[in-house]
Amino acid sequence: MDVRVGAGLNPLGLNPLGLGIPAVDLKEEIARLKKERNAVILAHYYQEPALQDIADFVGDSLDLSRKAAATDADVIAFCGVKFMAEVAKILSPQKTVILPDLKAGCSLEDSCPPEEFARFRRAHPDHISLTYINCSAAVKAESDIIVTSSSAEKIINQLPADQKILFAPDKHLGAWLSRKTGRDMLLWDGTCIVHEKFSVTELLKLKAHYPAAPVLAHPECPAAILDLAHYIGATSGILSYALNNPEPVMIVATEPNIIHQMQLKAPHKTFIGAPGADGNCGCNMCPYMALNTLEKLYLCLRDLSPVITVPEDVRLRARVSLDRMLEMAGSVSAVPVRGD
Ligand code: 13P
Ligand code: SF4
Repeated sequence: MDVRVGAGLNPLGLNPLGLGIPAVDLKEEIARLKKERNAVILAHYYQEPALQDIADFVGDSLDLSRKAAATDADVIAFCGVKFMAEVAKILSPQKTVILPDLKAGCSLEDSCPPEEFARFRRAHPDHISLTYINCSAAVKAESDIIVTSSSAEKIINQLPADQKILFAPDKHLGAWLSRKTGRDMLLWDGTCIVHEKFSVTELLKLKAHYPAAPVLAHPECPAAILDLAHYIGATSGILSYALNNPEPVMIVATEPNIIHQMQLKAPHKTFIGAPGADGNCGCNMCPYMALNTLEKLYLCLRDLSPVITVPEDVRLRARVSLDRMLEMAGSVSAVPVRGD
């Protein structure tokens, strides 16, 4: 794909109109700035393909946390949403963490304001709080253990059988974990606006059309979608299943940008995004992830802004719950991707 910003286009003021300044090749400039800044670019599977292609490492939430904790770069350019970049800052406070667009939030984070979460905790003092990583740093600071969708089951299975559990903020992921582990959990009422949009009716129609195609779903989907799935797991697990299962056609019920990695690694297979209510999978693009673009990545590397900050007292408390996750998750397997 040609990512040149031409002098006549000037969407970001890179090339003043009519001055004859050569077009900026964003890929080249990003590579140059990355070297100059000693930066590493991390990207989530839900980012647009151009950002995945330019990243040093592409992964799920757990892989990205591990990479952020282990990198020796001075700057982490995070192509993902804000809570992910905050995790990088919490784990690597001495590094400069930048996010192409500071407005790249998450509906799950929005559903769980820290004061309300603290009240929820106080109302259930005998419960441990397992909190999905899709939340603010302040909520992490109020939590006992952070989990991702790829690590949650393993972590829950390490808790004593009589330990009472609160799970926030994703009620669908919580309900799925509760069914899988047989543990009773008190669930926060939050959802992902992206995974909620898949339509059971449209998915049934698609399955009728491709009866042999397995359905791969993320556990952020409601139970009615998960009931139709052959495989349920985090993005890394979905990718791994898609690559290792021999079926030539598969239906993917998660954010459709992950299909880019599937097509890169298995170009001979067909991956169909599960549809929303209008029969079109386009409505399942994450609007927050979509705020990050190649142009904004270039600008944030150039200006070292927007920069992620986390108040030190919050960071230290959030670090405890994140470190517990990293310890308890151990070596949950991930798909080998570029940069490993
Ligand atoms: P994972 O990549 O950990 O499965 O998370 C999915 C997600 O919704 C990230 O926002
Ligand atoms: Fe949040 Fe859902 Fe977007 Fe992930 S896909 S960042 S959970 S809104």
